[in-house]
Amino acid sequence: MILRSRNPAVAQVVLENLYKTFAGAGGPASQDADAEASTETTVLRRIDLTITDGEFMVLVGPSGCGKSTLLRLISGLEEITAGNIWVGQQQVNTLPPKQRDIAMVFQSYALYPHLTVYDNLAFGLRRMGASAEFLASSTAASKDASESTNSGLKDSLGQTAPLSAADEANHQLQAALAQRSPWQTLLSGATRRLPKGLRYLSPADRMIDQRVRTVAQMLQIDALLNRLPRQLSGGQKQRVALGRAIARNPQVFLMDEPQSNLDAKLRTETRAQIVNLQHQLGITTIYVTHDQIEAMTMGDRIAVMNQGQIQQVATPLELYRHPANRFVAAFIGSPPMNFLSVQVSAPLRLSHAQFHLTLPAAWAQTMKSYDGQPVMLGVRPEHFSLSTPAPENLPVTVRRVEALGSETYLAVQFDQDLLQVRVTPARPFAIEEQLWLAIDPEKIHLFDPHSESALGIASPDKKFPGER
Ligand SMILES: Nc1ncnc2c1ncn2[C@@H]1O[C@H](COP(=O)(O)OP(=O)(O)OP(=O)(O)O)[C@@H](O)[C@H]1O
Ligand SMILES: [Mg+2]
Repeated sequence: MILRSRNPAVAQVVLENLYKTFAGAGGPASQDADAEASTETTVLRRIDLTITDGEFMVLVGPSGCGKSTLLRLISGLEEITAGNIWVGQQQVNTLPPKQRDIAMVFQSYALYPHLTVYDNLAFGLRRMGASAEFLASSTAASKDASESTNSGLKDSLGQTAPLSAADEANHQLQAALAQRSPWQTLLSGATRRLPKGLRYLSPADRMIDQRVRTVAQMLQIDALLNRLPRQLSGGQKQRVALGRAIARNPQVFLMDEPQSNLDAKLRTETRAQIVNLQHQLGITTIYVTHDQIEAMTMGDRIAVMNQGQIQQVATPLELYRHPANRFVAAFIGSPPMNFLSVQVSAPLRLSHAQFHLTLPAAWAQTMKSYDGQPVMLGVRPEHFSLSTPAPENLPVTVRRVEALGSETYLAVQFDQDLLQVRVTPARPFAIEEQLWLAIDPEKIHLFDPHSESALGIASPDKKFPGER
């Protein structure tokens, strides 16, 4: 198929020091202009992120952290307040959405209710002619557009990048659409709803038809082409929305929680399908979700966001093993990491009223400056183990048992805290049962109590202290 083999530089997305401020964000006080100005809210700050060619980047973070806003800035649906956005070698900050060569899949799917699946898939393709005309009519862009037809697109420095097969296919379609005579346009529009043999297909229509059918086959919706959106299930609607984006053959896909309307089973199935499809197409993708399991299972890399800022960008395993701060540590992993306030009583000794822990020697350098200070200890549920009474172990009381068969999760009371613990299902557990838990000192995380940054992560190879 047409999609793939792009020039790497062409499909890389670079976000450079992006800011977004909404003026008059509408608090109850915004009655007059002054009040509106005072309710300005900055919802994105210092966003620096490079998504490499063909990468599947997941943006994850809690509700309201700015994920959708960031996608809308990239797509051009929302204007940036400061910063730069590059798609390949082109700075797209001021380009209208149509000229950014980006396709977006919305949470609501946003299918046209009165159009069949076929026409929903073909809609963006038919409009490519309109964007070609728009390009040609804009004086600044017209020279580049005419020069680019066969030889490649000019970037902002005036250098020409070679056209990929995908870009070439889009240019051919744009050219065919631009060459349609008014009567061809009229005839193809007027006969669109007629049975197949009676329809008029211009050369552009034939190209569109081929693309729609290829994409429909790829997504297994070819049997649904004549249906209206209301005659589709949630999963089918989602595939039509994906198909509409794929058919446009864009440089970049943006997907805003496309799974959120599906039930749990379908989500798991389509999660894998979307990843396979993206690998097959090789199109640079930015995928938004607030579900950390979706993020961990889908992303080549994940950008964790909180309160309008990126907290950490890394591969799923890197995030899990080396969270940069307490927010990431708590957000990634299910059940989440446990946190306990402890005192550094000697460089390699952590003290709590009810237990003491000796750290591996690799922590020595990092802990020197924390001697006598409080730090936050982080322990993942799987890094506790059942043990015996001892000063280094934690006495706990079982409050909840979730025996899943392959593993057992316990919620246990320790001091004032409820800890989440994963144990092997070797034996049954009873509510109110008293246990002693050992912490694996090789696997602990430590955080500065004020900045909440992870300690020990600054070493050049980012190795976990104590990790072999
Ligand atoms: N047009 C707007 N005017 C003012 N504030 C806005 C506007 N759009 C979004 N916001 C605010 O920006 C913040 C980020 O919103 P955004 O929709 O990007 O969050 P999100 O991370 O996508 O959340 P969710 O997971 O719930 O979809 C929110 O606090 C929201 O209220
Ligand atoms: Mg959102």
